[in-house]
Amino acid sequence: MKITVLTLFPEFFDSFRSTSIIKRALEQQLVEFETVDFRAFTLDRHNHVDDTPCGGGQGMVLSCQPIVDCLKSVRSEDSFVIMMTPQGNRFDQKLAHRFASEIKHLIILCGHYEGFDERIRSFVDMEVSLGDFVLTGGEGAALVISDAVIRLLDHVIKEESHSDDSFENGLLEYPQYTRPIEYEGMRVPDVLLSGHHANIRKWRLKESLKKTMEKRPDLLKNREFTKEERKLLDEIKAEEEQGEG
Ligand code: ADE
Repeated sequence: MKITVLTLFPEFFDSFRSTSIIKRALEQQLVEFETVDFRAFTLDRHNHVDDTPCGGGQGMVLSCQPIVDCLKSVRSEDSFVIMMTPQGNRFDQKLAHRFASEIKHLIILCGHYEGFDERIRSFVDMEVSLGDFVLTGGEGAALVISDAVIRLLDHVIKEESHSDDSFENGLLEYPQYTRPIEYEGMRVPDVLLSGHHANIRKWRLKESLKKTMEKRPDLLKNREFTKEERKLLDEIKAEEEQGEG
């Protein structure tokens, strides 16, 4: 897979490229990652990429010409173009999987200032948002999306490392512990020290269900629970009632 980020601030991605898992993935050529500065495409004699909003108002708006020319220079039949904007589809693990498995060349367009000229939207395949908040620019969002997608590519991390992640099975991840067995009076649950794999798996599923009920009940709304999950949910409810009583 190749990721191309169109940005006014290529240096924003320097530490991303040179750190940890992403660095290794790039070295092993499991992914290609490039940034293109769309200022290099402006035909404006002062190198401007933005202008004041038509109709008046605060701030500056990114102009069509440098962005669309830049986009056309990197785009091919294999490309899928996303635009980072708070108005877009909410990014989630499902979309990360879709990008990682279906797209050969992901182009990510980062905005800055007050936003994009509306006509630029007709050149992109999807608008994507990280959530209901406004960033100073799309770079932070592009970095998050690149990270979430790259770690799902084959051989970047072990399959088992992400199959238990939060959201992978529609639930939040179970609690994890490491040594020491006791820290400031808090003990690692005995089951995790038992070496009994079936019990550990069951405990983890139950804790995942508990955590999800507590923190993200919305994730359970349309879930089709397995027989085992329904049994564990009954146990959790019974324990809660006991706790209250
Ligand atoms: N650009 C500015 N805010 C954003 C957000 N919430 N998500 C994606 N891109 C953005």
